[in-house]
Amino acid sequence: MDPLIEAAWAARRQARPDFSGFPVGAALEDSQGRIFGGCNIENVSYGLTICAERVAIFKALSEGGRQFRRIVVVTEAARVTPPCGACRQIIWEFCGDIPVTAMNRAGESKTWRMPELLPDPFDRENLE
Ligand code: THU
Repeated sequence: MDPLIEAAWAARRQARPDFSGFPVGAALEDSQGRIFGGCNIENVSYGLTICAERVAIFKALSEGGRQFRRIVVVTEAARVTPPCGACRQIIWEFCGDIPVTAMNRAGESKTWRMPELLPDPFDRENLE
């Protein structure tokens, strides 16, 4: 299996979906081939919950990752799980136009490019 997908399933096993019961795993590959996993971590105040994708990205950034090749997100849902709006913004800002692949429990997958997921983004160019 693709090592990035394997890493995402492994990360999912660490998920803390204490309120939704919906564990999610993600994995991000940087330009050096390093892989960073992430899982969703929920919180009793709900709003402080963080998604698997953002955990993977922030972990990568905190370990010096700067250029990224692709990200995957895996769940055991019937449908593939596309990233939420907050994650789309963060993926765009820190990873740019990378492919985003989502896989479900049946092993079905779908891959998008970021402009499909976040058309007309707000980003640093809008601050000029
Ligand atoms: N979640 C993710 O971690 N990634 C996604 O792409 C969609 C949603 C999490 C957030 C929350 O912990 C749970 O899934 C239910 O929404």
